[in-house]
This record gives sequence, C-alpha cells and structure tokens, in this order.
Amino acid sequence: MDSNEVFLTLSELVLLGDNDSASKFARQNLMKIAKNYPNLNDRVLEVLKKSKSAKATKSLRFAKTPLPVDQDSRLELIKTSITSQVNSDTKWPVQVQRFLNEVLEERKLEDKLIAAGLNPITSLLFVGPPGVGKTMAAAWLALMLKKPFYVLDLSAVMSSYLGRTGNNIRTVLDFAKSQSAVLLLDEFDAIAKRRDDNSEIGELKRLVTVLLQEIEDWPNDGLLIAATNHEELLDPAVWRRFNKTVVFPNPNYSDIQSFMSVALDGSVKDNSILPLISIFFIGETYATIDKEIKSFRKRAILTEVPLEHLLKQFFEESVKSIDKNDKEKMRLLAKNLLLANVSQRQTTSITGISRPTLKKMLEELV
Ligand SMILES: Nc1ncnc2c1ncn2[C@@H]1O[C@H](COP(=O)(O)OP(=O)(O)O)[C@@H](O)[C@H]1O
Ligand SMILES: [Mg+2]
Repeated sequence: MDSNEVFLTLSELVLLGDNDSASKFARQNLMKIAKNYPNLNDRVLEVLKKSKSAKATKSLRFAKTPLPVDQDSRLELIKTSITSQVNSDTKWPVQVQRFLNEVLEERKLEDKLIAAGLNPITSLLFVGPPGVGKTMAAAWLALMLKKPFYVLDLSAVMSSYLGRTGNNIRTVLDFAKSQSAVLLLDEFDAIAKRRDDNSEIGELKRLVTVLLQEIEDWPNDGLLIAATNHEELLDPAVWRRFNKTVVFPNPNYSDIQSFMSVALDGSVKDNSILPLISIFFIGETYATIDKEIKSFRKRAILTEVPLEHLLKQFFEESVKSIDKNDKEKMRLLAKNLLLANVSQRQTTSITGISRPTLKKMLEELV
C-alpha cells in the first residue's frame, strides 16, 4: 500500500468510528515505518507511547452515540451544534459571572463537598429576555466543565400530543444522564403555557411531576439547566426546585464595551470610537448589538468604506438624535469625549453640559 492508500484506509476506519480497527491498523503501519525508515524510529516510539494513554479519550470522541429521536418522525429530539459559537474567553455581566463561577468552583472541589455530605450545584434556572445569552451561558458551562452539551427545545416537543411528549422528554432526560451531559431545557415555560382539554390534564400533571423530580435528583456528574423568557409563567414551586436561579440582565455599559472590542477585534485599527458608540447600545440585548455590528461590518465590505468611518458616522447621527435631557447618558458621553481628547468646547456643544461642569468632571477623571 502506498502512503495515500494507508491514509485513506485509516481515515475510513476513523470516520466510521471503528476505533479498535483504526488503532490496530495504525500500530501495524507505524511498525512498518520504523522498520523501513530508521531515522523515524524515535518519533514512532513517541507516537506508540501516546497511543496507550490517549486510548480512552480517543474512543470517547469517536464513539458517536446516536442522539435520541422521536419514535414516529425519527427526527432528532435534541440539538448539539451551539457549542461552536462559544469559547472560554466569553465574558458575562458580573452578576451572571458570579453564579457561573460558583458552579465551576463547586465542581472543581466537589470531593470536599461530598465528603461533608453536600452536593455541588446540579440544576440551574436561567431567566431573562431573548438574546441576553442564556443559551450561550449553558454552552459555556458545558465547555468549561468539558461535558457534552445538549439542548431540548420544550416549545417544540410540547406541540405534539402529550403521550408522545412525555416519552420524548423522558428519553432525552435519560440520554443526557447517561452521557453526564449539560442539558438545557430551553423555553421551559412552554410546559406552563400548554393549554389542554380535560382528558389530558392528568397526563400533563404527571409529566410536570416527573420533570420536577428530575430537577431535584439530577446526578452530580451532569448539569440540568432550564431557561425561560417568561418567569411569571412559572409557579414559585417550580423555581424552588432549582439549586440556583440566575437572572440575566441586559449587558451594561462596560459589558457592551468589552463585547464590542471582541466583536470588532481586528476589523478596526483605532479602538477609541468604541466607548463612544457603546453608549448608544445601552439597554439593548447582546443579540441586537451583535446584529448591528455584523451589519456594519457587511456594509464596510460591500461599500469599501472603512469601518471606522461608518462607526463615526453612526456616532454622529446618534448624537444628533439623543435627548439632551437624558442627564446620565449625557454625562457618560461627556466623560468619554473628554477621555478621547475631544475639546471642551466641542464636548459642550455636543452634550449641552456647561464648561464649568466639564472642568469639574475632568478633575474627577484625573
Ligand atoms: N456574554 C456574551 N458575550 C458575547 N456575545 C453574547 C453573550 N451573550 C449573548 N451573546 C450574543 O447574543 C446572541 C444570543 O444569545 P443567546 O444565548 O442565544 O440568548 P438567549 O438564549 O438568552 O436568547 C448570541 O448568539 C451571541 O451572539
Ligand atoms: Mg436561547
């Protein structure tokens, strides 16, 4: 076999997930290489040594467990794709970060807790409007805990008839447990929202009871997260079942600035405009800001106008349209203009804040 053919055969075995045969084939060929190319002897030895310790993790990675499917439609019940968007550097608003760190810390030191008869956090309720990062935070936790991540969209499963819904939910819960996964029950309020005719009330109650029990008994090696945009739809009895509730706020001014600098990293040479335009995104969700930034970037590419230029233009237009009575925003704007070395005269004309007040602000800044 020439080296292309060896590579093809090995690839086929790997992609088929036949890890045992792939390892065996690799080992045989490594021996051949060592025999025919003595100068590669050391490298071959190194690789062979690695193969033993890496065996367990490799087979885990290649053994793709099939995802649970709906009995009738055979469609997959859960999603896994989200993890690609998130990376370990993702930052969260402080209140959120604090809870997420707590989860990680408790896991890291869980032996200590368990020895004291305590359990690490195994269930979380994420609350907040769409686009504030609930799904991403769940994916981030999975990434940091090095666990598989699965999402079950409850609004989708709740739409079929209840007997089937119940089966599907149970299948997914069992699957997630068997994988020690992080499972996100998205649109959790869909359960509360479901309207039913009387004949199904009993079944719905049973389903809710099962779910609540699962929340309480979720095993230590996994994590169950429920997310909702409609906290008011959830019974307080449901809230209580979760170890922690995390309320996701809209990003604040400093969250927005860090998000901008990451999202625009490399696309703008001069970052000084970012604190200025960030002011105009206060009150928006991450999702909205993300969309805006992408559309700026697209426009810059399509029109060949430098991105800085477009951002400056956006800033100038936004300044014109803001309400000068919004004192807090004006002070923030003035402060950042001064920090960006815009003259006091110009800052006054933009913000309407008097020169003496600006002087005082400037003194506070230094
Ligand atoms: N902490 C964050 N840092 C950077 N981007 C974020 C963050 N949170 C959310 N986003 C952005 O907002 C989008 C929506 O987030 P998502 O997790 O789907 O919100 P939710 O589940 O609350 O509706 C993401 O695709 C991402 O672009
Ligand atoms: Mg979501």
